[in-house]
Amino acid sequence: MEKKSFYITTPIYYPSAKLHIGHTYSTVLADTIARFKKLCGYDVYFLTGTDEHGQKLQEAAEAAGKAPKEYIDGIVEGIYQLWELMNIDYSRFVRTTDQFHTESVKKIFDKLYEKGDIYKDYYEGWYCTPCEAYWTQTQLKDGKCPDCGREVYKAKEEAYFFKMSKYADRLIAHINENPDFIRPEAAKNEMMNNFLLPGLEDLCVTRTSFDWGIKLDFDEKHVIYVWLDALSNYITALGYLNEEEQLMERYWPADVHLIGKDILRFHTIYWPIILMALDLPLPKTIYGHGWILLKGGKMSKSKGNVVDPVVLADKYGVDVLRYYVLREMPYGSDGLYSEDNLIARNNADLANDLGNLLSRTTAMVEKYFDGIIPSLHDEGAFDEELREAAMALPRKVESYIDKLDLPNALAEIWRFIARANKYIDETVPWVLAKEEAQTARLATVLYNLLESLRFIAVLISPAMPEAAAKMREQLNITERLMSWESVQKFGLYPEENKVSSAEPLFPRVLSEEEKAKLAKKKQKQDKKFELTETKADKSAEITIEDFAKVDMRVATILKAEKHPNADKLLVLQVDLGTEKRQIVSGIADFRDPAELAGKQIVVVANLKPAKFRGMKSEAMIMAVGDDKESFAILMPEKPAEAGTRVK
Ligand code: MSP
Repeated sequence: MEKKSFYITTPIYYPSAKLHIGHTYSTVLADTIARFKKLCGYDVYFLTGTDEHGQKLQEAAEAAGKAPKEYIDGIVEGIYQLWELMNIDYSRFVRTTDQFHTESVKKIFDKLYEKGDIYKDYYEGWYCTPCEAYWTQTQLKDGKCPDCGREVYKAKEEAYFFKMSKYADRLIAHINENPDFIRPEAAKNEMMNNFLLPGLEDLCVTRTSFDWGIKLDFDEKHVIYVWLDALSNYITALGYLNEEEQLMERYWPADVHLIGKDILRFHTIYWPIILMALDLPLPKTIYGHGWILLKGGKMSKSKGNVVDPVVLADKYGVDVLRYYVLREMPYGSDGLYSEDNLIARNNADLANDLGNLLSRTTAMVEKYFDGIIPSLHDEGAFDEELREAAMALPRKVESYIDKLDLPNALAEIWRFIARANKYIDETVPWVLAKEEAQTARLATVLYNLLESLRFIAVLISPAMPEAAAKMREQLNITERLMSWESVQKFGLYPEENKVSSAEPLFPRVLSEEEKAKLAKKKQKQDKKFELTETKADKSAEITIEDFAKVDMRVATILKAEKHPNADKLLVLQVDLGTEKRQIVSGIADFRDPAELAGKQIVVVANLKPAKFRGMKSEAMIMAVGDDKESFAILMPEKPAEAGTRVK
């Protein structure tokens, strides 16, 4: 059967500034959607590129003492490298200085001119150089450019105009009949109310004030307006009116033009009208995503607050950055960037939820079965629920991605990760491991966990290709088991397959604030230590016999819960090998009870029992620190038999 096609584009970027995390977001979002559709079996074409003409670039090149193309080549090189670093798997990178593109744009212009949709006249108005836009007197805001707020100057030139108004009614009808054409809804309303309904003016589509652009063959002093030039890339890259591979039939109309909200007007009004004039079908969806903002507002080179994706990717890893922008940028509205937030996402979602699920599972398979689960089956409580959650997941994720809603698609996957972590706490494999008779049950539980991890690896692969590949390696599965078909059925993980544990997928990171606090704390402690050392009194020494009186043992936590009557206390049920005990401990501010089950700790086992708020405590846990940062529970370096004496 022939594959269904899927064509997605990003904006083509201006190579005038260093690309920042905002551009990275746009491109990572498109890449993730493209990879997901590919996973689902679509024939995907993913286009990105650079928008290389215009006065701004001509001036920047002059300032740098270079010819425009030479100047731009240097910047474009950096853009290629950025997309390579970010793992952007585009099908084609179009540059508007590419010959196939300039050739097509000229033909597009000629076609529209011959058709009578473009005519020659004079233009007079207020021109904004950075925005490369003309404004009328009434459009100005306090005498400045209404888009960027910068100075404008009066200009008059002979120019060609496109008859936008001719197509306005058709476009309005199209928007009304196709609810998915402009998304999100707010963007559609804004375009309708602010531009279409008040009436469209004809658009000036040539310039004579500079010459870095595509020149008209029949009127050489005119260069084609950069937006007409740039927007055409979406079809010239498919071979429209040029000699390149002819892909129009296969991919046009585009399924998604992904853009930032600031360029909605060009994409939802001018572009569809140009397409109508060319008798081409319109793209199915134009999605205007929000902006990544900083606390103080927009990022800008002049403010010097541009967030560099290369620095972040080096510091935290490419997949952490990809996950962060995809998860944190809300669907259809602006999002606030903060490095602390990125660290928090890394620590909670990646290191803790996903990383621990993988490392706990593979470590248990290694510990209990030397890395190979025997093919023994014993169904039990919670299996069905886990299986059902896994089976429902691919459809849920797909439906969010079809809506271009990545935050919710990822949230669904993370709900399932939480479900799988809970399954470990519910089935308590370390307790099953104690009894020979439970071997089949233990094998089944661990098998279900490996299979759940396989589902997770497949579903995160579009967003985090590197992490998915590492998971695949640890799970030791073939490419086929990373496919979309393979997550339509639970239970395909091969039996008696060797797994391996490795370095944690996502190391925990300390925020700058945490680091500073820790350093301060350490300083204080060092000082305290110096003092106690000098004051050390020989009479405080104890003999080995004294020490032997303290019965310290390794215990395995079976269960941990909040104390019913005290916020600061946790109640732990521990296994001491020959017996089970209850411990009440004042660590509720520092540890989530869900994290503790299964952990091995060191306890003082012969401390006189005491009651805390009505609950008996029959041992004491050993720990250091008295606040969240410094708090740590003492644990054996490697698993030990519960009840082993600490010497
Ligand atoms: N060259 C035009 C696009 C032509 S498409 C036919 C252009 N280029 S740009 O480099 O200035 O911007 C490219 C995209 O990056 C735009 O969609 C813009 O919205 C997006 N972003 C720029 N800064 C951004 C953020 N801070 N946050 C999110 N996206 C932002 O416009």
